[in-house]
Amino acid sequence: MKIAVAGTGYVGLVTGVCMADRGHFVTCVDINEQKVATMNAGKSPIFEPGIEELMVRNMDRLHFTTEYNTAYKDAEVIFIGVGTPEKKDGSANLSYVYEVAVQIAQSIERSCVVVVKSTVPIGTNDKIEQLIRSNLKNDVTVHVVSNPEFLAQGSAVKDTLHASRIVIGVEDSYAAEVLREVYKSYECPLVITNRKSAEMIKYASNDFLALKISFINEIANLCEVIGANIEDVAIGMGYDSRIGNKFLNAGIGYGGSCFPKDTKALHWLASFHDYELKTVKAAIDVNENQKLKLIKKSRKYFDSLKGLDIAVLGLTFKPGTDDLREAPTLVNIPFMLEEGANVKAWDPVGVDNFKKLYPVGVNYCDSIFETLRDTDICFIFTEWDDVKKLNLTYYSDLMRTPIVLDGRNCYELQKARETRIIYDSIGREVIYNM
Ligand code: UDX
Repeated sequence: MKIAVAGTGYVGLVTGVCMADRGHFVTCVDINEQKVATMNAGKSPIFEPGIEELMVRNMDRLHFTTEYNTAYKDAEVIFIGVGTPEKKDGSANLSYVYEVAVQIAQSIERSCVVVVKSTVPIGTNDKIEQLIRSNLKNDVTVHVVSNPEFLAQGSAVKDTLHASRIVIGVEDSYAAEVLREVYKSYECPLVITNRKSAEMIKYASNDFLALKISFINEIANLCEVIGANIEDVAIGMGYDSRIGNKFLNAGIGYGGSCFPKDTKALHWLASFHDYELKTVKAAIDVNENQKLKLIKKSRKYFDSLKGLDIAVLGLTFKPGTDDLREAPTLVNIPFMLEEGANVKAWDPVGVDNFKKLYPVGVNYCDSIFETLRDTDICFIFTEWDDVKKLNLTYYSDLMRTPIVLDGRNCYELQKARETRIIYDSIGREVIYNM
């Protein structure tokens, strides 16, 4: 089928590339000319495993352009995959989505199906449909479909090609048939429902996962107080298939482009309708506190961070991505600097993005060893493999005082017991072995 995709961020690019891989003819639209040139050369503007291989392999069916008019005018299906960033009040900023809707209306010369992949508040698909219909230049019919994505950064290609489910929100059977055709080569359950339910499935899924993380983080905090071990607790809980064993890793809170934004947006939407979504509010509050958990732990060892040499391992919100959105480091590192600490930081892919935000003040290192050398305390914010595989003796050998605060539970406690370090992680016994 002839497909156009609006936006080449995580959602748009991965959608376009995967659609081309499934045999469709795809044109992706972005406003940034340089980015378009890069993508036409087979290079991905985002760090995402597997994406470039697919781009190169499908180049004959995949094009990138800044000219939305050419891309949309005769497309059978147009995906909208532009961003819906958070506004100051927590609601979603829909201006990019609406802008694309108007551009589509003014460009299309044939009837088509517009598929909204961007995460949008419940009811937005109806508004998009009205907006397109009221701005149409030609006498054509447009069907709007809600088709939320469930991809996670770092596994976006796999999550898209081997989706757990495809959710299709439609108001008419014709649109459902077109979407069945688009996804005919996918072997996963299709959930066909109305548009509002599809929009809600996306928010409810993300908010439930965020809630699960905040719940396990609170249990971890309590484990520390009463002397239980969160990992054993999570294993014991996870065998119950009603609970499941995924997303029970305690840590310093969730970050990224979805959970923080989508929890706040749903809470805002509920309040707008005079309903208080108490569980989601709790997930948000717990997460805000959890992000500063390691700073609170550091108070056990030092009254203040002033004058300390600090090693930071990991800057991104999770491994496998260079994305810093809502990463715990964005609140922790400014706090450290404000208190007068000297911060050395390492990350395998996130340094360039972090440097754009903090060009001065942080000493960026190329290796973990250089980062640890002669420091008073180490903060682990991201569970990169290089960190997890590190022999713990490097902490005792390189640091001035080997105090390791681990926000991602990277090491087995037994390993820490065998090393001369203080190892303080989340929801587990503190190992004092100095
Ligand atoms: C998430 C959803 O997984 C995806 O389905 C949705 O479409 C977009 O949002 P993403 O933000 O890329 O994807 O990452 P994810 O792997 O879900 O992790 C989000 C955050 O939760 C990370 O900061 C991660 O460290 C944290 N997390 C995850 C935990 O703290 N504990 C866990 O058990 C799992």
